[in-house]
Amino acid sequence: MNMHKYEKIWLLLGSGTLLVFLIVVGISAFYMGSKPPSCAVTLDPERVTEHTLFKEPGLKEIGDNEYQLTIVSSAFNYDVGNDEKLIQIPKGATVHVSSTTTDVIHGFEIAGTNVNMMLEPGYISTYTNTFKNAGTYTLVCNEYCGIGHHLMAATIEVIE
Ligand code: CUA
Repeated sequence: MNMHKYEKIWLLLGSGTLLVFLIVVGISAFYMGSKPPSCAVTLDPERVTEHTLFKEPGLKEIGDNEYQLTIVSSAFNYDVGNDEKLIQIPKGATVHVSSTTTDVIHGFEIAGTNVNMMLEPGYISTYTNTFKNAGTYTLVCNEYCGIGHHLMAATIEVIE
């Protein structure tokens, strides 16, 4: 097979880049133990409500304009601590969001913000977000989880 010089250079460059990429990923994963952040904290998925973080879900003030928001997710509900499924956050507040699922995999997206997580049984997913703009946001499940998937939502109000 006759190959053009530039073709050879291009192929070498392509496979070389791939090799470097795989070596970097391999070293960080297997040698340095890198994992997605959500894999760091685990819990027993059958005893979520006994966990200190999820005993009383909802929004708690933990500092100056700083809040902890914990939500227990299950098919097809976000337990935010009230029946209205409403969370009210003061504008500009920094919120540490933690959630987990008691059953299957669910999504956790606060539409219009950077909060977008996957909830897996046995793991606590966390994300810190500062709500800079007032308005009404919807927390939705973006992983198909069953017949009531489209009903799985809650409302977040960022108030002045
Ligand atoms: Cu939960 Cu879809």
